Amino acid sequence: MKKFVIAIDGPAGAGKSTVARIVAEKLNFLYVDTGAMYRALTLKAMGKKIPFEKKEQLIEMAKNTKIDISYNDGKFKIYLDGQDVTNEIRTEQVSKNTSYIASILRIREILWDIQRKLREKNNLVMEGRDIGSKVFPDAQLKIYLDASIEERAKRRYKQLKEMGIEEDFEKIKKEIEQRDEKDRNREIAPLVKGDDYFYIDTTNLTIDQVVEKILLLFKEHAVRS
Ligand code: DC
Repeated sequence: MKKFVIAIDGPAGAGKSTVARIVAEKLNFLYVDTGAMYRALTLKAMGKKIPFEKKEQLIEMAKNTKIDISYNDGKFKIYLDGQDVTNEIRTEQVSKNTSYIASILRIREILWDIQRKLREKNNLVMEGRDIGSKVFPDAQLKIYLDASIEERAKRRYKQLKEMGIEEDFEKIKKEIEQRDEKDRNREIAPLVKGDDYFYIDTTNLTIDQVVEKILLLFKEHAVRS
């Protein structure tokens, strides 16, 4: 029998990571942050100083890279060629550059393979932009998490402040808008909300309320599948 997949897609700052992690913990599923994989390859390319327009070089690099994940005690970690890069991949520079890596089909295919393999042994809560559309079109439950741009920028502002980083609110908002634009309009695997998704607008909801909604949907779908 196929393992159960809860696919969670949506734009940056909609609360996917927080919510997906809690849902995974409650259900004892494996949590997978696919954005971290695209970020890890970006970090490697930056370290090797490969220009982002050199697609062939980037593809070669990706082919020769080992990406692993672990999820223990509610903590997700990502390893690049055996090295833990969980924190290094969160810089603004990596965030900005990841869209180049994410737009290369061959690289996406390499990561899709890794993502699909994880289902062989695990029930999954996998989050990203294309999980329900490309990675697992047959996912048993597809959720599209969204929030207004204002709210997503507020969340990011707060998150940065908690990390001791003071950023201009309007600048944050603009960067999120630019990332949205790229994620939605790229040719390969753009962020799209298909008809088979459950749409949840988290703008005025607490994290617990969103988690509750997803768990309820899971109960309905687990019975049917
Ligand atoms: O979710 P995130 O911010 O960590 O994602 C980083 C970048 O990777 C973002 O620009 C979108 C891209 N991405 C993607 O194209 N497909 C995914 N499944 C996950 C992330």
